[in-house]
Amino acid sequence: MFENIPDPLRTSLPAAEKHNHKTNLLDRWTESGAWWEERIQHKIDPYQKYSTSRVGSFIEGAHRDGSTFAGHNFASQDYLSLASHPSLMKAAKDAIDIYGLHSAGSAALMGNTKLSVELERRLASFLGYEDAVLFPIGWAAGYGAVKTLVGPTDHVVIDILAHACTQEAARDATPNVHLHSHLNLKAVENRLARIRRDDPSGGILVVTETLFSMDSDVPDLAAMQEICRKYDATLLVDCAHDLGSHGKTGRGILEDQDMVGKVDILVGAFSKSFASMGGFVATNNKGFRFALRGQCGPSTFTNAMSPIQAAVVLAALDVIEGDEGRERREKLMHNSNRLRAGLEEAGFEVLGKPSAVVPMLIGDVLLARLMTRYAVELGGIVNLVEHPAVARNACRWRLQVMADHSDAQIDAMIEIAAKAREMAEMHCEWLSANDNSEKVRRFMPANETTGNVAAE
Ligand SMILES: Cc1ncc(COP(=O)(O)O)c(C=O)c1O
Repeated sequence: MFENIPDPLRTSLPAAEKHNHKTNLLDRWTESGAWWEERIQHKIDPYQKYSTSRVGSFIEGAHRDGSTFAGHNFASQDYLSLASHPSLMKAAKDAIDIYGLHSAGSAALMGNTKLSVELERRLASFLGYEDAVLFPIGWAAGYGAVKTLVGPTDHVVIDILAHACTQEAARDATPNVHLHSHLNLKAVENRLARIRRDDPSGGILVVTETLFSMDSDVPDLAAMQEICRKYDATLLVDCAHDLGSHGKTGRGILEDQDMVGKVDILVGAFSKSFASMGGFVATNNKGFRFALRGQCGPSTFTNAMSPIQAAVVLAALDVIEGDEGRERREKLMHNSNRLRAGLEEAGFEVLGKPSAVVPMLIGDVLLARLMTRYAVELGGIVNLVEHPAVARNACRWRLQVMADHSDAQIDAMIEIAAKAREMAEMHCEWLSANDNSEKVRRFMPANETTGNVAAE
């Protein structure tokens, strides 16, 4: 009734390090290439699909083998449903007419336009800073800010679940990277005290996020900023996932915590609620802002954000700051709460606090891969997150809610999740009964799941 899933596909991604005995660098990837190919053949690789229609609450797409699908879209980052908003589309078209498509160079040369400079100032005033610096992608903003600020003898104290852009920058900047357990203020303070005791004059950067998107949880930012001041450390906060989509006025978690304009360095992205691409760093330190423009690899030595991106973000800000933005955020929160409640009622463990992201824990990697396959076949388009993005056997769906989802779509997604779990469990049971492979684990109830690993 069900097809067999070979043993290697029941575990996490094979690491290239495993094949390091091979001298030729490309040869090291041969085995993992075959592994991915096999996943595609068995329809348990959700990472190669693409859309064939506009981003919306319902979407059509295809797999690379040409097969197509359509369904309720819980896999986009367009939280406010602005991707086809008439005023944003018009802004993009007008920008093309005025500025062309662009290849004008780095922001440090002639790559910036009147629109990007206007956006920097507008953002800064929205966020409570003197000025901001744009980057062509959000990843570059996080990476560039950390790498520019931190030297090889400095320290970075960073939440173990912080985004790859800041983690990688920290490792590239200094050997002194101190991971602390997730959201653990005590661990941050203990580490800062120890660093200051051993290295009284070293620079220290503390890195966190407003909303952690794999868990939908938040740190106490006021307390973190206070601890940083106590030890003369600098705080950098990434607000990629909640800026625009959260808070009464769209200023995100910062607004909930009365911290707008109060953290040392704010980093963000336009690839979520702004229906565009690009990122920014906002800070009141003029020298650091100049350094980000003129001495920062992913800003200085790459082309600037295009005028189309800047125009779309400006138009998105108009919506976000107005009544329409408030209404869209209210609808988004209604949808998020409805989805959370329905999933919990269906027996799923939903992590964190209400936000545009609804992380639904599944646990076992094979079960999660099969559930994702069946969900897409049933018309629920979801993102599977597996190791190394989260801890082993803490696989989850990161369901991303949109303002335009209807109640009926939310209810349909809950039903699809339950049905997909049933089908995946039956498949796992069949595998256990029909071959001699390692025993396949079944859906784990909430109190048996592993959660995230913690350092410290
Ligand atoms: C917390 C965080 N920071 C930065 C980024 C990078 O943003 P972008 O996709 O715009 O490069 C992301 C998103 O993917 C993110 O989740």
